Amino acid sequence: MIEIRNAVEEDNSALIGLQKKCPMGRSLILQFDSSPSYFNRSKHQTENHIIVAVEAGKIVGSASCAFMEKRVNGKNLRTAYNYNLMVDPSHRRKGIATLLTERREEIATEHNIDMIFCQITQDNMPSIRIQEKRNFIHVKDITSYVLMVYKPQRPSTNGVIRPAEEPDLPRIVDLINDTYSEYDLYKPHKVDEFKELIEKRVHYDLNNIHVYEKEGEVKACLGYWDYNKVIQMTVLQLARKDQLMNLALAFLGIFTKLPRIPKPGQRLTQYFLQDIGFTKLEYLTELVKHVNNIALNNNIRVLITLGVEEPITDVLSKFMNTTSTEHIYAKPLKELDLTGFGQRKVFLSME
Ligand SMILES: CC(C)(COP(=O)(O)OP(=O)(O)OC[C@H]1O[C@@H](n2cnc3c(N)ncnc32)[C@H](O)[C@@H]1OP(=O)(O)O)[C@@H](O)C(=O)NCCC(=O)NCCS
Repeated sequence: MIEIRNAVEEDNSALIGLQKKCPMGRSLILQFDSSPSYFNRSKHQTENHIIVAVEAGKIVGSASCAFMEKRVNGKNLRTAYNYNLMVDPSHRRKGIATLLTERREEIATEHNIDMIFCQITQDNMPSIRIQEKRNFIHVKDITSYVLMVYKPQRPSTNGVIRPAEEPDLPRIVDLINDTYSEYDLYKPHKVDEFKELIEKRVHYDLNNIHVYEKEGEVKACLGYWDYNKVIQMTVLQLARKDQLMNLALAFLGIFTKLPRIPKPGQRLTQYFLQDIGFTKLEYLTELVKHVNNIALNNNIRVLITLGVEEPITDVLSKFMNTTSTEHIYAKPLKELDLTGFGQRKVFLSME
């Protein structure tokens, strides 16, 4: 008999144990570990629900959702973002993920949510099947960029780059809102809400947002979230092509500086790039170079940007990178006009 209930603080070590048993990925299989707190990842969310599936007193599955306002087709919607669905490998194919997904939908309905959405990493067929069986619709496939950090990047303009300060907040908010004004699943920030979001996000503050200043005006901003402090990722398995690539890179690396893909057992250290705002692409390029150099000094191997659309792709593709696809799925819970949803740009971030 499976019981679905809300997670409580006392479930922390069981949830971390379950998470370690549920690696994800196909060509690169990663194990996740949220120690010391499974709940840190969600601290910045205003409204969230973490549920667990319990059998014979043991947690065998879990799922999370966060409620937030988002804009789709020019209208503000109350949305639920579904994430962190996982089931103990020894209890799979017994319908536990389906029960958790159904319960998340019930909670969303109880909270007057208009639409649920989620993002599924490339080719995660079990997860795709679950969404499709629950009548989620495929909205769009969107590209995430993984930039390799392996050598210092030289600045090429004479602007000033510095950590953001409180008086910069209105300008930063304007830059980010202008950058994402055409995106669905983005809701323009207000200065006080943005400030609160930064304060609540674990291991992230104004010092993590750097600004590019020229002629006394902030022209661009870029944040980097040291996600290793929230969730450590360890490589469990590499696809054969990546193992061969590593050998080739190790050989070529004798002659020049080249990136290395972490080997099984090694940590994949990363910063998430977020809070992107810019007036010109060259200013954003300078900030990416700057964050690359900070990352290099801190032994970070990759910079990840979720869901990148043009023209940000033009900046990121200039750096040595690999990409992955995120499948966006959504399910309206009410009559909604979703005309063009999926054809327009879609905003994706570490919600
Ligand atoms: C994805 C996951 C949560 C599924 O859990 P589960 O409890 O086994 O799923 P269910 O038993 O509810 O499966 C429901 C349906 O999904 C599909 N499905 C589930 N696992 C599948 C698999 N390995 N291959 C193909 N389809 C699968 C089937 O259609 C299944 O229905 P069926 O058993 O009647 O054929 C589990 O495999 C998991 O924890 N994976 C690792 C973490 C992960 O990838 N999470 C998703 C992040 S987006």
